[in-house]
Amino acid sequence: MAIIVNSSETTFHLCNGEISYLFAVLPNRQLGQLYFGKRIREREDFSYLIETRARPMSSCVFDTDKRFSMEHLRQEYPVFGTSDYRMPAVEVVQENGSRISELCYDGYRIEAGKPKLPGLPATYTEDGAEAETLVIMLRDKVSGLLAELSYTIFSEGGILARSVRFVNEGKKDLKLTTAMSLCLDLPDSDYEWMQFSGAWARERYPKLRKLEQGIQSVGSLRGNSSHNHNPFVILKRPGADESRGEAIGFSLVYSGNFLAQAEVDTYDTTRMLLGIHPAAFEWKLEPGETFQAPEAVMVYTDQGLNHLSQTFHRLYQKRLARGYWRDRPRPILINNWEATYFDFTEERLVEIAKTAQESGVELFVLDDGWFGKRSSEHAGLGDWIANPERLKHGITGLADRIEALGMKFGLWFEPEMVNRDSDLYREHPDWILQTPERHACHGRFQYVLDFSRKEVVDRIYDMMAKILSGAKVSYIKWDMNRSITECYSAALPADRQGEVYHRYILGVYDLYERLTSQFPHVLFESCASGGGRFDPGMLYYAPQGWTSDDSDAVERIKIQYGTSYCYPISGMGSHVSVTPNHQVNRNTPLYTRANAAYFGTFGYELDLNALTEEEQAEVKEQIAFMKENRGLFQFGVFYRLQSPFTHNSSAWMVVSQDKKKAIVGWYRTLNGINLPYTRIRLQGLDPDMEYQIQGDPASHYGDELMNLGLITTDTSSGQAEGEEKMCQDFESRLYILSAAGEGAQR
Ligand code: GLA
Repeated sequence: MAIIVNSSETTFHLCNGEISYLFAVLPNRQLGQLYFGKRIREREDFSYLIETRARPMSSCVFDTDKRFSMEHLRQEYPVFGTSDYRMPAVEVVQENGSRISELCYDGYRIEAGKPKLPGLPATYTEDGAEAETLVIMLRDKVSGLLAELSYTIFSEGGILARSVRFVNEGKKDLKLTTAMSLCLDLPDSDYEWMQFSGAWARERYPKLRKLEQGIQSVGSLRGNSSHNHNPFVILKRPGADESRGEAIGFSLVYSGNFLAQAEVDTYDTTRMLLGIHPAAFEWKLEPGETFQAPEAVMVYTDQGLNHLSQTFHRLYQKRLARGYWRDRPRPILINNWEATYFDFTEERLVEIAKTAQESGVELFVLDDGWFGKRSSEHAGLGDWIANPERLKHGITGLADRIEALGMKFGLWFEPEMVNRDSDLYREHPDWILQTPERHACHGRFQYVLDFSRKEVVDRIYDMMAKILSGAKVSYIKWDMNRSITECYSAALPADRQGEVYHRYILGVYDLYERLTSQFPHVLFESCASGGGRFDPGMLYYAPQGWTSDDSDAVERIKIQYGTSYCYPISGMGSHVSVTPNHQVNRNTPLYTRANAAYFGTFGYELDLNALTEEEQAEVKEQIAFMKENRGLFQFGVFYRLQSPFTHNSSAWMVVSQDKKKAIVGWYRTLNGINLPYTRIRLQGLDPDMEYQIQGDPASHYGDELMNLGLITTDTSSGQAEGEEKMCQDFESRLYILSAAGEGAQR
């Protein structure tokens, strides 16, 4: 890894074994982007890459030159209005009303490792040798705005982490109205744009389309990163697929409003922007004040989408997630939500926990309904005190009973919300986000607390810390069940109302930071009506997130498949629930529900007492199997093999770091009859290693399994004879591979 600055300090080359990132100081002192892609060798002068051409209708910068127009140059951190007509990375309104600035190069510094971003989640290094950071200073001399662009190159992986910090060094107030974290101008537009979109209970479906001239974007203006679109997009070459070809992934480490946008201009260059959504954003900078934009991570690969995803997985698993649970296999849990909803007593909970414990479950999670007057969606949020009518011994008593069974205890909170019917709201009606004299909309009968105010965050912290200090709580499910409306803070002046969305998220991060550092052994799982805030920002505080409220196996395979493009398996909360499924009313076999949930943190969202004896025995086996293999599932190298979005059957697999073990998950939605022969080509194995597949007397070399494929042909029901297993709808299978001689896994 190196950051090479040429002798005239006009070219910067960040590189490691995989990638090169190049930019230069242009003749007008603004920055020009030269290259991002596979590693190229260093040369002293890359200025030939700055293409200036005289073109009709161009607006030109220099009085005596018809060739130099910002409209035709690829840039590093562009502004609007000084001959470039594309969407800018930054816009700052000055006291005279002007929105034009010229951010000119004014020096650099290089730091070992990666500095922290104050108050914001970000990737990190554990020692200085893992990465180097280049900070470029750009100054606008008229307004006094300083923009510090940070670029971190890691020693391994095609990763570049970027962020921007602004300082008002002038004497007058400034107002940032656009402050993107990343701009990447690419020399052509021969890309497909892949976004991850959906809605509640069907989050992160991959959508692919050709980039075209004009603007294509996804974003969120909901205050949370949202179920609808994820702050992650991929630009891939048309021929690229899971195992080959070029692609660039763009991921924003942020949980609030965002915009990911590609603008293809008339010359077919592509401008990629990623950052806080400029709509509904303004940030006032008084003289001396600073603003830190969130981090954006770019990953380049020339080895296909699985490789791209694996790079993100490794980075986010090891250098974004933090703390005690980062590298630890996750406890197998049981959550009472779908078992009881709001209808439970302490005895009922203990009954659920007891059977779960006997089956091998390690953690019992009490979901919504334990606090204040919470017996429905209408009341209680904000009053984080156990309801004595339901829990006569409080949380402390219940946690003790659960621990006495030999399990850990976990608890649900929705810290950011309040019901009007709550003591907190009655005491502080002005603590919600609401615009004066306007109606405040509700979501699920609840209102959003104004987390831009420190006293609000302090109060919630005190209530939560009291519970956590007074009871044996090992896990928290942190939920967030509505988006923001009428965004306005009673505590901020008129000219700072554009800051509320971002200040709100800073408040959320602050509470997470305080709780995770005060209670470092507690495992946090983030949740937002399932996957409404499933983003890298959350992963920094909570190493796992509830992937979706949809717990049906068939739906979950799609959701987890889409989620895996950016996020690691260890980050995906996944449970087995009852049939008929509560979201889609579908009946799937118990083994298929488990076969989907193994590729995640694993747990149960049901009352095991309601299962038959046979099913209970099957659950015991599932748990024993997961305990043996969770290290592999959660921390192995993950490959997508066949997409459930394009096929009736789908597959994925995990491979251990030493390639001696692998598990393939194969799933088929609808059964068929007299079906064709089928094989699935595996990936990531050692071609020379001989593998034993559990239940198959023959062994196979890695090269066979990866090139000829694993035979998945089966016999449909109606066709089966003798001993053969009858297949059904929603069929699934696990293939468990071990290096010959290493012994089968079960
Ligand atoms: C959200 C969560 C669910 C559950 C309920 C409780 O919908 O996503 O898992 O916790 O809230 O109200």
